[in-house]
Amino acid sequence: MDLHLEGDSALVTASSSGLGKASARALAAEGANVVLNGRDEERLEAAVAEVREDAAAEARVVGHAADLTDAEAGESLVERTVEEFGGLDHLVTSAGGPPAKPFLETTDEEWYAAFDGLVMSVVRTVRAAEPHLRESDHGTVVTIASVSVKEAVDDLVLSNAVRAGVVGLEKTLSKELAPEIRANAVLPGTHETPRVEALVEQGVRAGAYDSYESGLADWAGEIPVGRIGDPMELGRTVAFLSSPQSAYISGTAIPIDGGESASNL
Ligand SMILES: NC(=O)c1ccc[n+]([C@@H]2O[C@H](COP(=O)([O-])OP(=O)(O)OC[C@H]3O[C@@H](n4cnc5c(N)ncnc54)[C@H](OP(=O)(O)O)[C@@H]3O)[C@@H](O)[C@H]2O)c1
Repeated sequence: MDLHLEGDSALVTASSSGLGKASARALAAEGANVVLNGRDEERLEAAVAEVREDAAAEARVVGHAADLTDAEAGESLVERTVEEFGGLDHLVTSAGGPPAKPFLETTDEEWYAAFDGLVMSVVRTVRAAEPHLRESDHGTVVTIASVSVKEAVDDLVLSNAVRAGVVGLEKTLSKELAPEIRANAVLPGTHETPRVEALVEQGVRAGAYDSYESGLADWAGEIPVGRIGDPMELGRTVAFLSSPQSAYISGTAIPIDGGESASNL
């Protein structure tokens, strides 16, 4: 299926690794010009080089380092994208995940930091992007959240509680910014990104698993399709939701989890 993204302009936040990077790769492979983002400049440069390798010949890929918890970051990212590519058609928001811990171990500071990182980073970037997305005749916002908005995940109270705000925001945007702009969310289950690799390796060091492979197999145990996800399986869905091929899809939150969540809806 041709996604008709050639020459479009896209910004993907928190995209120097993992699911954000996979989304940037999928967009650039379809011919979109993409701005990638992260805090660490070296990691960002490496991600830009990697995304360029897979990009369609005409696609341009650049990096812009910024910390999304800075109030100015969203605006500076949008400005850079418009400067580079002459407009903005597609915004994809990802963000660093909050620490995993049970409720009784969380502090007020961690709750505010989770809200700032997961919700306010999206609020500020969408606010800056909105006039440009409206100017495009096919503006889209796709937010990478988590299946934790459907089913609480053990020891992830900050994600379980705070990410629901992002999905509420996305649904509201799909109504308030329509018809010019569509807004959707994707809800990853477990994908083999550096964040997940680090958690499995932590389990190996703690003696919970004999090896990385047995740790991965354990993580896959509850997933109906029998394995954890490849980040590109999420990235390609993000590209589809950004494309005119999904023109009648707005206001949804789509789990990409190999069937793991038991929720009926
Ligand atoms: N992987 C999964 O299975 C899974 C499942 C459910 C939900 N999620 C959520 O999806 C998101 C991405 O996860 P991932 O596994 O792809 O993580 P990852 O591989 O660790 O990548 C996180 C990315 O975010 C960037 N980042 C973190 N904090 C940032 C900040 N303040 N400002 C700008 N960039 C920032 C990181 O770069 P720098 O560190 O250089 O800034 C990196 O590029 C997280 O919120 C995670 O909780 C992931």
